[in-house]
Amino acid sequence: MTEALFSPWRLGEIELGNRVVMAPMTRNRADVDGVLPDSAVEYYRQRAGAGLIVTEATQPSHQAQGYPGTPGLHTDAQQHQWARVADAVHEAGGHVFIQLMHTGRVGHPSHRPTATPQLAPSAVAPDLEVATADGQMVPADTPVAMTVDDIAQTISDHADAAARAVAAGADGVELHGANGYLLHQFLSPSTNHRTDEYGGTPERRARFVVDTARAVADRIGGDRVGLRLSPGGKFNDMSDRGNEETYLCLVDALADTELAYLHTLRGRSSTLHEELRRRWRSTYVINTGYMGSSELEEVAPIVADGVADLVSVGRLFISNPDLVQRWRAGIPRSTWDEDTFYAGGDRGYIDYASHPGSQE
Ligand SMILES: Cc1cc2nc3c(=O)[nH]c(=O)nc-3n(C[C@H](O)[C@H](O)[C@H](O)COP(=O)(O)O)c2cc1C
Repeated sequence: MTEALFSPWRLGEIELGNRVVMAPMTRNRADVDGVLPDSAVEYYRQRAGAGLIVTEATQPSHQAQGYPGTPGLHTDAQQHQWARVADAVHEAGGHVFIQLMHTGRVGHPSHRPTATPQLAPSAVAPDLEVATADGQMVPADTPVAMTVDDIAQTISDHADAAARAVAAGADGVELHGANGYLLHQFLSPSTNHRTDEYGGTPERRARFVVDTARAVADRIGGDRVGLRLSPGGKFNDMSDRGNEETYLCLVDALADTELAYLHTLRGRSSTLHEELRRRWRSTYVINTGYMGSSELEEVAPIVADGVADLVSVGRLFISNPDLVQRWRAGIPRSTWDEDTFYAGGDRGYIDYASHPGSQE
């Protein structure tokens, strides 16, 4: 059952050593300028046994940042650290895509140098508490609806950051269209009340994501671009039920862009996922985590049965840097410490040991 999981896979121009993807995970260790610490180089190097690493969410501009400690990819200093990460992962035999995230209505202005308001498709406040730069939890503000100029700027910021990712030596970028952030906010009728060309019908709700993906693909090549989606997902106060048509329009509109992969978080209904898989022409990746578990027994059959080409695994990679080697060798996996997910410096970050037996 595990043979397929451990077999290689061609993703655009690169050959992955196995079908296990390290899922993107925010770790909030960057400094106030959005520059990763040196320990991030070691963190990603330790995890290069994944067929592909998708990094923590990274802002393509100041405006895109809503959380403390998330890295950016819009300054030279940020790019310099990402280049060290990419080198380390490649030297250890792995591959890496940098996830680009604009948080949209989620987050707090105090994380940006000029404290500009949150921008979103429409002025619909999330029912959420968000952290300020001085660590208080406060109700999220009502965001400002983006103008067409804001939209054009945001698209070009994504393309610029993608160019920086490639210049830093990364294998590509993943656009974060999941979990209630900006791209997802455009897709969902609960957060997108626009009546212009970016809202009002399934095609028009899909358009911002389509335009962003095309602009990024034009800049760095479609085979270096992945897209993550969570249809029906409720995280960050989303209500995306009954919105299947938007996702189908999106996938159809992107058919000629030939992106590297589609990465979905499995929802409650498998019908839409089966249809997305059927229509998507290249690599299909599933993350089962929030709707089940990412244990070996659950993910191996997904690849073996062709439900997806690759599976992504999150938390197990935090506590098991050598997860794939452990799975191959039948070595039990360690459990993670949630208290250090988003804080803790090196603790809970680079101090999870690889198992001696997994190196053989
Ligand atoms: C600490 C942590 C940070 C996360 N950050 C991100 C992120 O930056 N981008 C993203 O798309 N998903 C993020 N996720 C979701 C994971 O990619 C994944 O979907 C989730 O952990 C479920 O999979 P798992 O059960 O294998 O962990 C995060 C999850 C965790 C636990």
